[in-house]
Amino acid sequence: MPELDEHTPVLQLNRFDQLRHFLTIDGLSCQHLTDILDTADTFIEVGSRSIKKVPLLRGKTVANLFFEASTRTRTTFELAAKRLSADVLNINISTSATSKGESLSDMLQNLEAMAVDMFVVRHAQSGAPHFIAESVTPRVSVINAGDGRHAHPTQAMLDMLTIRQHKGQFNGLTVAIVGDILHSRVARSQIRALNVLGAREVRVIAPDTLLPVDVESFGVKVFNDMSQGLEGVDVVIMLRLQKERMEGALLPSESEFFRLYGLSEKKLKLAKPDAIVMHPGPINRGVEIDSAVADGPQSVILNEVTNGIAVRMAVLSMAMSGQIAELAADEEVI
Ligand code: NCD
Repeated sequence: MPELDEHTPVLQLNRFDQLRHFLTIDGLSCQHLTDILDTADTFIEVGSRSIKKVPLLRGKTVANLFFEASTRTRTTFELAAKRLSADVLNINISTSATSKGESLSDMLQNLEAMAVDMFVVRHAQSGAPHFIAESVTPRVSVINAGDGRHAHPTQAMLDMLTIRQHKGQFNGLTVAIVGDILHSRVARSQIRALNVLGAREVRVIAPDTLLPVDVESFGVKVFNDMSQGLEGVDVVIMLRLQKERMEGALLPSESEFFRLYGLSEKKLKLAKPDAIVMHPGPINRGVEIDSAVADGPQSVILNEVTNGIAVRMAVLSMAMSGQIAELAADEEVI
């Protein structure tokens, strides 16, 4: 499977410049990202209705292929597809035939033979959703639900929606992303989205051991110290320590990490008084964030989860429209 870098060709737009797959924020313009946010806004209201359904994906089948553990992302993708009236398959990878030696390609071909229209893919290896998007038939769309350290574009977009709801716009905002940047696909996608949408400054705050070597090239200001990095920020995004991806000792201890980089009420006072606190989850209380902050008045962590459904409804419906438009144009040519 190919390892990805920022220059990997992006095949996610169709010839009409519409979303067709959603693999990464890379290559998408401010207009593309704003369209996703505006479409998500229209779906927020659906979630507050007593009958939470619209017929946009009626008769379509969405398969959730999660090769890595997930609660929020998998369930909100499932709810999003169901609220769009799609049929949803949750493939349990640990009991599927891939555990009997079947290759990923064979598994996909079998699902395509069942006329599945969309694959939502989470994989521990960077590039897996790109690989799948390159190998499926033109009748299928692929949505990246998080691949290795590479990208988690729907998480970034639900965070952008949450920021826009609370702050109105991106211009003029200073956003700090704190903690394990090195292993975080979420941070990579958020940084890209914030820069494309026009945030004034994106900061990362972490010890050098948790920063990628080329972090400066991401378009961020780097801080090793919370007291400088949090000064006057509008948004604080905390990240989980991704211990499952750590090789070797990158930290002295969790309690030392919390002392230096954990978000406490005292450290939060360095940010603007109306700053919001975000976290993609799962949160580790007392490791990267104090309970008083996670449950406090500035926390919008649960709003992020709710917004995840609307953003995923937007992305699923937009990719399906992109797929249909392309197939219709092909048929006209024939
Ligand atoms: C994140 C992920 O899986 O990348 N979680 C999520 O999707 N909500 C972040 C994490 O696992 O820490």
